[in-house]
Amino acid sequence: MTEAKNINGHTRRSFLRGAALSGAGALMAGSTTAKEESDLLITEVQPWAQELGDGVDAVPYGLPIEHESDVIRRNVPWLTADAISSVNFTPIHALDGTITPQGCAFERHHSGAIDLRKDDYRLMINGLVDNPKVFTYFDLERFPRENHIYFCECAANTGMEWAGAQLNGAQFTHGMIHNMEYTGVPMRTILKEAGLGAAGDLKDKWIFVEGADASSNGRSIPMEKALDDVFVAFKANGEALRKEHGYPVRLVVPGWEGNMWVKWLRRIEVTNGPVESREETSKYTDTLADGKSRKWTWTMDAKSVVTNPSPQSPILHERGSLLISGLAWSGHGAIKRVDVSIDGGSNWQTATLAKPGEKMALTRFYLHTEWDGKEMFLQSRAMDETGYVQPTKSQLREVRGLNSIYHNNCIQTWHVGENGIVENVEVS
Ligand code: MTE
Ligand code: CO
Repeated sequence: MTEAKNINGHTRRSFLRGAALSGAGALMAGSTTAKEESDLLITEVQPWAQELGDGVDAVPYGLPIEHESDVIRRNVPWLTADAISSVNFTPIHALDGTITPQGCAFERHHSGAIDLRKDDYRLMINGLVDNPKVFTYFDLERFPRENHIYFCECAANTGMEWAGAQLNGAQFTHGMIHNMEYTGVPMRTILKEAGLGAAGDLKDKWIFVEGADASSNGRSIPMEKALDDVFVAFKANGEALRKEHGYPVRLVVPGWEGNMWVKWLRRIEVTNGPVESREETSKYTDTLADGKSRKWTWTMDAKSVVTNPSPQSPILHERGSLLISGLAWSGHGAIKRVDVSIDGGSNWQTATLAKPGEKMALTRFYLHTEWDGKEMFLQSRAMDETGYVQPTKSQLREVRGLNSIYHNNCIQTWHVGENGIVENVEVS
């Protein structure tokens, strides 16, 4: 019998072997030798207690320990023609809590990640303002600051799953998302400094934002949103933005599609209307069943996914105590409730939220349950503070058809076999 392989090429047997070597799997390995070996780990003085460890400064800036070397971004090479205009995915199946370390947060570039020094950074504010300005990076540091945790989800997240179950791993189906604590300056502060307001009625005004990279990734944002919670960030999770996330300055557009979060932000133009750029016409619009495309679908609707177990994180233990874990989020506000089903949506149990949901940020949920060792069709369903409930795949298809790429927030199903192997399947 050939053993099912998950997307990393691991078999269940190789997982079990690894677990037994590290001691964790020995309990169920059944052999006395393995049990004895395992007992020695706690009864005998081990090598690491017989010698000294590394001194401070062995690693001036720390990286994860080598035993965690599989917790990395991964791409799907056949998705795009090259790695320059491409995407990779956050290993959400291997993380817990809600904050995404920058080092493994997904990247999406249209013309590659550029190297831009703080000294060379300039931000221009022009258009319908009384006092057009060019700020340096160091000018931005002198404004009053705010800190906020927000998720950033690419509109194309889960985009390969419209027609059927396709990619075998939560990292690949749902990993175009990250969640960080940003530090920066509100857009309203910057616009005020450039004399907005004095320029007349703001009601129909927009801003057009663009990046310093070759693609420029220009997007129009209505003034109401710009003045509400959009901000210009220069730190993420306490440290400078990484190059791949827009160093030294990126835009944060809470709850709205990732494409609007312009990296290497170079210009903000106040306009009388939307620019209708490439990224908001031929791309990032939703093609409906009748072939017509819908535009201005900026907000990311409520969504969730079970991250463990999932195809890259199979069940490695026998029946009994099982912790099901996952992530939920909504661009419309806070997550209020998440339900989990183990039978493909016939019955639902309410999961525990690790913390009360926060607006436009990831929420971690857990369901501690007893696994009877039988197959499961695992699903999660998120509800946000507006009362909106995450739809099934068929409910979403009724409205959107099969031609869409973006904004797929349907309920995901994982099949868990009696052997603990997990596969991406469709229950619609
Ligand atoms: N900004 C610029 N300047 N260039 C880009 O290619 N990609 C956009 C957006 N901002 C992009 C950009 C897209 S589609 C997404 S989903 C997010 O950045 C991804 O941000 P990340 O690479 O930090 O994950
Ligand atoms: Co995107």
